[in-house]
Amino acid sequence: MEGHMDADIRIRAVGPPERDLLIGMYDRFDPLGGAFGLPPRTAEARREWIGSALGHKVNVAAFSAAGEVVGHCFVAAGDEPGSAELAIFVHQDSRRRGVGAALVKAALECGSAAGLRRVRAMTSSDNRAALRLVRSCGFRLTSVFPAAELEIYLPPTWVANPSCPAVA
Ligand SMILES: CC(C)(COP(=O)(O)OP(=O)(O)OC[C@H]1O[C@@H](n2cnc3c(N)ncnc32)[C@H](O)[C@@H]1OP(=O)(O)O)[C@@H](O)C(=O)NCCC(=O)NCCS
Repeated sequence: MEGHMDADIRIRAVGPPERDLLIGMYDRFDPLGGAFGLPPRTAEARREWIGSALGHKVNVAAFSAAGEVVGHCFVAAGDEPGSAELAIFVHQDSRRRGVGAALVKAALECGSAAGLRRVRAMTSSDNRAALRLVRSCGFRLTSVFPAAELEIYLPPTWVANPSCPAVA
């Protein structure tokens, strides 16, 4: 999974101080609007969306050696307590190298540390990359129509990830 990720890619928790670095990735992201309208197509809507994503407890990003953000994963709280929804975006120049899998794994560890017990993911049913990614991370398909819905239950015994100081 992340075994083939470049050794110089670093994954860590992020928050409002990293907002401009995230904006930098999403301004160069392709495709915009591909995942249920996300990332938003207009710069203004993207900034608003990134700001609200950073308001959620679990935000992790992948950084290149040059310090640029090349991937971002966040977990948005759901309606039921302990339940949440995962979103994952990897810049097109860094795909298929295990960055997505490493981000999802880190986000689940942070989510577990934050008390989440069930995380859902939604993608369009033809998004093969996202489906394969989340299934390879342990998510189970629960529905395929009108969109693919997946879920994973997090064992409460998962240890806190030291790279998630905000939630540990
Ligand atoms: C989906 C996405 C995050 C995958 O990120 P990534 O860094 O390329 O994923 P990884 O390299 O970690 O790959 C993880 C698994 O997915 C598979 N995969 C990745 N891209 C794939 C593709 N285009 N087609 C088929 N499988 C693919 C990998 O082979 C790997 O599977 P394996 O573990 O069984 O070998 C990335 O393609 C993306 O950002 N897409 C646009 C945004 C999006 O659709 N997000 C999801 C909705 S929230």
